[in-house]
Amino acid sequence: MKDIYILAIESSCDETSVSIIKNGSLEIATVVLSQMDIHAKYGGVVPEIASRKHIENITIVIEECLQKGSMCMDDIDAIAVTYGPGLIGSLLVGVMAAKTISYVYDKPLIPVHHIAGHIYANNLMEPMSFPLIALVVSGGHTDLIYMKDHYSFEKIGGTLDDAVGEAFDKVARVIGLPYPGGPMIDRLSYEGHDTYSLPLPLDDLSYQFSFSGLKSAVINLVHNEKQRGNMIRQADLATSFQNRVVDILCKKTMRALSEYHVNHLVVAGGVSANKVLRDRLKALCEQNGVHLCVPAMCYCTDNAAMIGAAAYFAYLNGRRADLNLNARATDILK
Ligand code: KG4
Ligand code: ZN
Repeated sequence: MKDIYILAIESSCDETSVSIIKNGSLEIATVVLSQMDIHAKYGGVVPEIASRKHIENITIVIEECLQKGSMCMDDIDAIAVTYGPGLIGSLLVGVMAAKTISYVYDKPLIPVHHIAGHIYANNLMEPMSFPLIALVVSGGHTDLIYMKDHYSFEKIGGTLDDAVGEAFDKVARVIGLPYPGGPMIDRLSYEGHDTYSLPLPLDDLSYQFSFSGLKSAVINLVHNEKQRGNMIRQADLATSFQNRVVDILCKKTMRALSEYHVNHLVVAGGVSANKVLRDRLKALCEQNGVHLCVPAMCYCTDNAAMIGAAAYFAYLNGRRADLNLNARATDILK
């Protein structure tokens, strides 16, 4: 079969990223331009600033990626883009750029759901085997997804309130850590001990998650300790919070694997960079004869390589968009 080279664009949040991926698995070149330093001083992503920065950067990042891969548009078979979910202004920049290239160079346009991208980051590590369960843990999602084959997504559970990355970021702020909070909590937890008593969130027989109660428990604890004039043991609180999150993610994921008789697990999304989550899942999967795949650190947080990997399988499935493609702030993975 002919090799397929896809130029993929990702701009759903605060990273402007472009990648060229061969056959859904081989990264030819990727450029990620992060705006993290700009948003850090505001304590979170400012959507207006993010979309303006994407506009400034998108053409530069596309050209840089082609140069890095020593390729030109003639070498590219299709253009892929994250159309949603995400920040609408940010998404629009990527979608407009992709539609323009598709039109000018007469290339097929492939729409990619951001979460499909996160899941397919695993295909850059090794060919995905089915059926599998995907644990999606990002700033906007906490999902358990059953896949019986490529590009077949059955959501079996999700979050009822805050996404897990959002909970990490909010708790980090409450205990005085800078944005983005997830990596800070991860790092700090190695200096701490699990000494604070916090509830295991939504510890039931469903596959739903809920992190707002745990977040509130941390806020109340900090508030009460301050009122009593006590110092917060930052590292201990980071460790205790992170352990409860990892406990429930692992418990429900392992149960899903068992109940669905699946022995392949992939982890996806920014929180899959979390060292404790990775280590704990590795140990549990080894014990239970489950094959675990986690993305390399560079593919955990937002990047266009994962979009290019997903796009290849969408392309094989015949998915195409025309110039009416629009960005969608929210959208179900299907
Ligand atoms: O997937 P992502 O880059 O963006 C979304 O699609 O949402 O995920 C970003 C989230 C942030 O909430 C960030 O704090 C979290 O992933 N994150 C982490 C770690 N690295 C990133 N959370 C916990 N531990 C980490 N090491
Ligand atoms: Zn993401």
